[in-house]
Amino acid sequence: MIESSSLHTTRAAYDAVATLYAELFRDSVEGHPLDRALVTAFAEFVRAADAGPVADLGCGPGGVTARLASLGVAAFGVDASPAMIELARQEYPDLRFDEGSMLALDIGDGTLGGVLAWYSIIHTPPEDRR
Ligand SMILES: C[S@@+](CC[C@H](N)C(=O)[O-])C[C@H]1O[C@@H](n2cnc3c(N)ncnc32)[C@H](O)[C@@H]1O
Repeated sequence: MIESSSLHTTRAAYDAVATLYAELFRDSVEGHPLDRALVTAFAEFVRAADAGPVADLGCGPGGVTARLASLGVAAFGVDASPAMIELARQEYPDLRFDEGSMLALDIGDGTLGGVLAWYSIIHTPPEDRR
């Protein structure tokens, strides 16, 4: 897949601010009761379905991936920013974090039990969202 210029720009921007972002939003759900409830409900649904692991797409520094894992979900993170992935791996060495684009996942059809894209598809142009 040819990489779009918007992905190139997004990756460069998050690489540049990754450390600051992680300091400010290590767990972007903590401190937000409604967000916590949504993630907790999502975890309950995917656990009940027991249909496979969950990909946290655009996982950033990995806080939400870790929250899902703490809720009993087999979650792993994917992010386009190598700096974000590096931070996530440092902070959560027991979890899996892959560098890559959510638009070109190396994941077979029907192998995931769920997908979370927490404040990450905001960077995907509407024509690419489908
Ligand atoms: C606002 S941050 C949210 C990070 C994390 N979900 C959180 O809640 O803290 C957006 C993240 O999406 C990632 N991202 C944006 N477009 C992406 C794409 N096409 N594939 C993978 N990651 C992407 C960025 O690198 C960035 O880490």
